[in-house]
Amino acid sequence: MHNVPTAQAQLPPRNRFIINLSIITLQLRLGEDHLKALILAGGFNTRLRPLSCTRPKILFPVLNKPLLQWTYERLAKNNISDIVLAVFHQTEVYIKQHRVPRQNLHITYSRDPLRKPLGTGGSIKKAEKSLGQDSPFLVLNGDVFADVDYAQMLKQHEKNQCTATIALHEVEDPSRYGVAELAKNNRITRFIEKPPLGTAPSKLINAGVYVLSPRIFKYIPEGQPVSIERDIFPRLVEERELYGYVHDRLWIDIGKPEDYLQLNRILLDDKGTQLGNKKRPYIQIRNPVAFAHGVSIGRRSTVGPYAVLGRGVTVGENADVENSIVLAGTEIADGAEVHGAVIGEDVYVGVNAHIRRDCIIGDHARIRDNVSLPTGTSICPANDVVGDNYPEGCR
Ligand code: GTP
Repeated sequence: MHNVPTAQAQLPPRNRFIINLSIITLQLRLGEDHLKALILAGGFNTRLRPLSCTRPKILFPVLNKPLLQWTYERLAKNNISDIVLAVFHQTEVYIKQHRVPRQNLHITYSRDPLRKPLGTGGSIKKAEKSLGQDSPFLVLNGDVFADVDYAQMLKQHEKNQCTATIALHEVEDPSRYGVAELAKNNRITRFIEKPPLGTAPSKLINAGVYVLSPRIFKYIPEGQPVSIERDIFPRLVEERELYGYVHDRLWIDIGKPEDYLQLNRILLDDKGTQLGNKKRPYIQIRNPVAFAHGVSIGRRSTVGPYAVLGRGVTVGENADVENSIVLAGTEIADGAEVHGAVIGEDVYVGVNAHIRRDCIIGDHARIRDNVSLPTGTSICPANDVVGDNYPEGCR
């Protein structure tokens, strides 16, 4: 028998701008089985190119800390210590190179076969041995930042004695997601992946956090690409085995660049003001901002609001950086303007260059002096951009 964690602390008011990642205390009886978590961390990350050409989504820095580290910390605070990462071989290499602090978690890898991605369902099946047959387990989409109450979710799953419980989150436009129709008893009566605009049965979307019972493994064929959302959830609906758990706290899937910027903005609203308060004469810091170690800013420059500068970023004189994320080692030269953009690692943004809203610059690119990039431009890693003659980004 598995044990049932209980929430011991009352939650703070439900305010989506207040992030409290440490409020749930799970009581896990030592010596018995405990809740394991599988983090889905393979995938192609096409929507975050060109930044994802050189790092998987789970390693994207969020307020200068890899997303995976936030996930580890949340699991550790919930006393969930047995973690399986479902990865591609290359993802595993990146994770190991990054040395993400492990928070005393016991972490193992379950690898998709080389050049044969198993999809979200196939990779759950692949981890069957590690997850075991005795008790429900947690599955997390690695690219989601979600402050879900795992204990409550597990409780509800056990009460319903179902095969799968999906965390559901209400959004304004559900057309990009899997959408669920929920009956009064929380049973999902319809599940539709990416319904055309205006046809969604509700605004409750799949939040990418599941509690699954081991009988899920019977639904998934071995060694084949399977999408849990498209191939398995609709079957579970038919068999009345799929339930929803409505999650109304912070939730963001960093799948698209604007979502990635939005997540950093929300966290900056909560934590950022303290991060940029160091006295720096002759420069203007507009909070909230977040600076990693070794950031240097030249005279008469303005940084913020909503600027996140990674380790060793250099901003020259008379420059202006706002509402942007700049990754480690990048140099923004004198007089440059960066507004609403995401700039990769070790990029050079030249003197008086202008990088506008929704631009994404791949690692090691060089944007030469006086270049002005139009809104929404994406530049491939290591491209050298001179004048307005540059190859269109790698979409
Ligand atoms: P896009 O190409 O930008 O849509 O990204 P994606 O391929 O990561 O797809 P999606 O966001 O739908 O994936 C949901 C989660 O499952 C993410 O955390 C992915 O890392 C993970 N994932 C998707 N496909 C696979 C796969 O084939 N194998 C493994 N191990 N994980 C996967």
